Amino acid sequence: MAVVPIGVVTVSDRASRGEYRDLGGPAIEAALARILTSPWRAERRLVADEQALIEAALCDLADVAACPLVVTTGGTGPAPRDVTPEATMAVCERLLPGFGELMRAVSLRAVPTAILSRQVAGTRGGCLIVNLPGKPSAIAECLDAVFPAIPYCIDLLGGPFLETDPAVCRAFRPKA
Ligand code: MTE
Repeated sequence: MAVVPIGVVTVSDRASRGEYRDLGGPAIEAALARILTSPWRAERRLVADEQALIEAALCDLADVAACPLVVTTGGTGPAPRDVTPEATMAVCERLLPGFGELMRAVSLRAVPTAILSRQVAGTRGGCLIVNLPGKPSAIAECLDAVFPAIPYCIDLLGGPFLETDPAVCRAFRPKA
């Protein structure tokens, strides 16, 4: 079976300058490793909170690395440097508002500041791009909430058949 490349993008000024270790990227990879049983590998990117750099990383992962899924962490809040949703919206042809709606609803059970996240998701060609918040503990929470719909979304985009561990995440495919 072909190994599926999955984009893992950390957006952080300080992590990209080496002022602290990137914890978000590894948290995404740990969550994916728990969820997925089909073969995959991470295509990692670490970029500063600059819209042009984020857009370039997303386009490279979607168009060149041919990732059917790209997950970002960080830069979704209301601070002036937070521009991950703007970059995502700029490179996507279509948005999938349900992702942000569900992730904020789930996060709201944990923290009232969940409503500060502007995270979005959308498609660029055959690639699904999903923003997660920057906080490492929020990553698994949000990814676990939306992942049941991700394999079918990638099916609909014409991508590879992703399989999950049903004990962790039951991928829902309406027609299967
Ligand atoms: N979601 C969960 N589950 N847990 C959290 O602690 N923090 C919120 C929100 N979502 C949080 C969360 C806060 S304080 C902000 S500002 C936004 O995510 C955006 O975070 P980001 O800018 O690091 O992406």
